[in-house]
Amino acid sequence: MLENKNVALYVSGGIAAYKAADLVRRLIKQGANVKVGMTASAMEFITPLTFQILSKHHVYTDTFDEREEDKVSHIHLADWTDIAIIAPATANVIAKVANGIADDFVTTALLATTAPIFVVPAMNSHMLENPATVRNLATLRADNRFVMEPETGFLAEGYEGKGRLPEPSTIVESVKQFIVSQQLDLPLKHKRIIITAGGTKERIDPVRYITNDSSGKMGYSLASVARDMGAHVLLISATKQLKRPLGVDVVEVDSASEMLEAVMAEYDSADIVVMAAAVSDYRPKKQAAKKIKKSDESLTIELEKTTDILYQLGHTKKNQFLIGFAAETNNLEVYAKEKLERKKADMIVANDVSKADVGFNKDTNEVTIFIPNSEPTIVSIRSKKEVAIEIFNVAIKQMRR
Ligand code: CTP
Repeated sequence: MLENKNVALYVSGGIAAYKAADLVRRLIKQGANVKVGMTASAMEFITPLTFQILSKHHVYTDTFDEREEDKVSHIHLADWTDIAIIAPATANVIAKVANGIADDFVTTALLATTAPIFVVPAMNSHMLENPATVRNLATLRADNRFVMEPETGFLAEGYEGKGRLPEPSTIVESVKQFIVSQQLDLPLKHKRIIITAGGTKERIDPVRYITNDSSGKMGYSLASVARDMGAHVLLISATKQLKRPLGVDVVEVDSASEMLEAVMAEYDSADIVVMAAAVSDYRPKKQAAKKIKKSDESLTIELEKTTDILYQLGHTKKNQFLIGFAAETNNLEVYAKEKLERKKADMIVANDVSKADVGFNKDTNEVTIFIPNSEPTIVSIRSKKEVAIEIFNVAIKQMRR
């Protein structure tokens, strides 16, 4: 996640400044490129040489110490940055950044950066509780800066209180979560994805319907994975049994025709459509307005074909990437390839629903992914979430081709 990310670490002057050296090491271990800026007070606690040796870069301490004629160093650093971290952030630096004051290298570069800013306050507990600091931290949060919660523990002053710098390992974990929340460089960033899930219901009369064993779990896993990969997700759900994933738009439908309508309404603006739903192939030709009463020994319900949504999407697509499913009990490869071609899908995810622990209504799945003119990808049995990750990994690779 931090691989090849450009991290500008700004160190301000508190006793916790020594922990920033370990933070640099840990960030580099995660694959980040780290450059360090220090305030004058920070240099009272730890030397620039320490950071220079660890980061293998010049350490920025003076706004006017311009070493390269063609660069203004604080702007150059600000523009280079993917994520800025202030650790430790003293009450003084927090106050300046919250109010747009730029009177040294660190605050000037921070004012110039458009990258996300991650603030790790560390100070005496009374300074932290001071209304001015409380106000300044609230300003930073309102400005969309991420402020990490200081830890409670034994302070340098010799008493317990809130204000300790969290351990560098904890800071790195929090930075990683922050990157996910900021959706930096996520593979499906800016992509609009429609995902259908669950088994459709085709009404016979007001109290009866035809449906199937699909639980919707695969579609819901796909929706939350796509969201975590940065996509804008519309989940068209034929089930009401599952918890709605946060941060995903959900439209509930019952029948195949309602699903068709909901998909088509958003199709033009979609980049990817995943037809994970088990759509009924037939519906009762007539829907009784009132409950059908018991009468003869046998009852015949005439069924008619529903529209094949995936087929329709495939035959009207512009640039959308279409992923279909094929739940089979036999001849998996033959049927999956036939569906890929006939429905003009870009990918078919096939599973053998005759196997135990796989497919309909289970928490695990085992699938084979078919794409045109390539060898199939076999995804061995694992959780539906892990299967969803593999499905999108294959799709992303294929879309980039
Ligand atoms: N599908 C669809 N609309 C339908 C039926 C199926 O969009 N009316 C989609 C499913 O969501 C799935 C794919 O088509 O992504 C394959 O579904 P499946 O039921 O396996 O295939 P069918 O075409 O219905 O063929 P069969 O039932 O004969 O295997």
